[in-house]
Amino acid sequence: MKTVVLAYSGGLDTSVCIPLLKEQYDYDRVITVVADVGQPASEVDDATKRAKTIADEHYTLDLKEEFVTGYLFPSIKANGLYEGYVLGTALARPLIAKKIAEIAESEKADALAHGCTGKGNDQLRFEVVFRATGFDVVAPMRDMNLTREWEIDYASDHGIPVTVSREKIWSVDENLWSRSIEGGRLEDPYFIPPEEIYEWTASPEAAPDPVIIDLAFENGVPVALNGIVLDGVSLIAKLNKIGGVHGIGRTDAIEDRVLGLKAREIYEHPAATILLSAHRDLESLILTRDELRFKAMVDAAWAELAYMGLVDDPLYADLSAFIDETQKRVTGDVKVRLYKGSAIVVARRSDFALYSEELVSFGESSIDQKDSEGFSKYHGFQARLVQKIMK
Ligand code: ARG
Repeated sequence: MKTVVLAYSGGLDTSVCIPLLKEQYDYDRVITVVADVGQPASEVDDATKRAKTIADEHYTLDLKEEFVTGYLFPSIKANGLYEGYVLGTALARPLIAKKIAEIAESEKADALAHGCTGKGNDQLRFEVVFRATGFDVVAPMRDMNLTREWEIDYASDHGIPVTVSREKIWSVDENLWSRSIEGGRLEDPYFIPPEEIYEWTASPEAAPDPVIIDLAFENGVPVALNGIVLDGVSLIAKLNKIGGVHGIGRTDAIEDRVLGLKAREIYEHPAATILLSAHRDLESLILTRDELRFKAMVDAAWAELAYMGLVDDPLYADLSAFIDETQKRVTGDVKVRLYKGSAIVVARRSDFALYSEELVSFGESSIDQKDSEGFSKYHGFQARLVQKIMK
């Protein structure tokens, strides 16, 4: 008896994979796994119900807490941006893949399967984890190049309830950190996204009067919102709500996928935008100039690996170790003003601040301004030498 474990989302592609794995790949038993990484609860429930009617065995895993502590907190510490934009899907894939491999292990399965196509990043992110486990890897969607029409007919022939239209509107991927929308008419980069694609954020024009929120950070991660201590999952969920009302965190990006294809992607990520701005600001108060400069390079390298799903690369651990070391002092409070799509830091404080009001102010201070005269004589010294030589 051959068993395969499938990463299942509840959508048409992964639903069609279930009978395909039996008919085209000769597996006898298909086990589905739905990973709850903070997508809407109704989506998790629907996927679970559907899987239970069509798969031989099913697991729904609540990974929200592990997702936050193992992937979102590190991304905050690393100011995680790829090509200037918030990471999302990329952060969830390795965790989902690892959990599926664990189930395959305990179920003594023969193979792991995903429903990704051959054009995107997700096939790489799943498989880099899958292949490290030694199981066979199957990717029916990539192998078969199916049309949506064919899938819908095949699904109804196999008793799979289909709730989608023949006309695929957009493809959406959601987790606690980000909602991504791609495909359909959005593939034309000159097409202005219609308001209806947004579900987490109000349009900035329709957003209410400004509010100022208070965030407390400890060792680089958020621990309280408006004076209330919250676990990471609740804090991020709450910030998504508040930020969404104010139209914070919409991105329309032309993104370079790992394979080199450019793609047009729309994202919503209110909490991520707020937390990343606040965290980055707090670092500028606390870290030394040299740390900030060097860390910007480390952060960029970290985000690149995270985007590619290469979280088991030794470099990822090396960079994370550096980042964690710097975060030992990143503790303090930040106030952020939310107004019509913008999240702007308006105040910050920390017991570890290198900033000194006394030193910087124009009044009496412990700095003797005359001491900098010698320094200023050498400032730009080499440029002056060059100017002299070239005269
Ligand atoms: N392009 C993004 C990434 O690779 C998001 C892909 C998410 N998929 C989707 N169906 N919207 O991280």
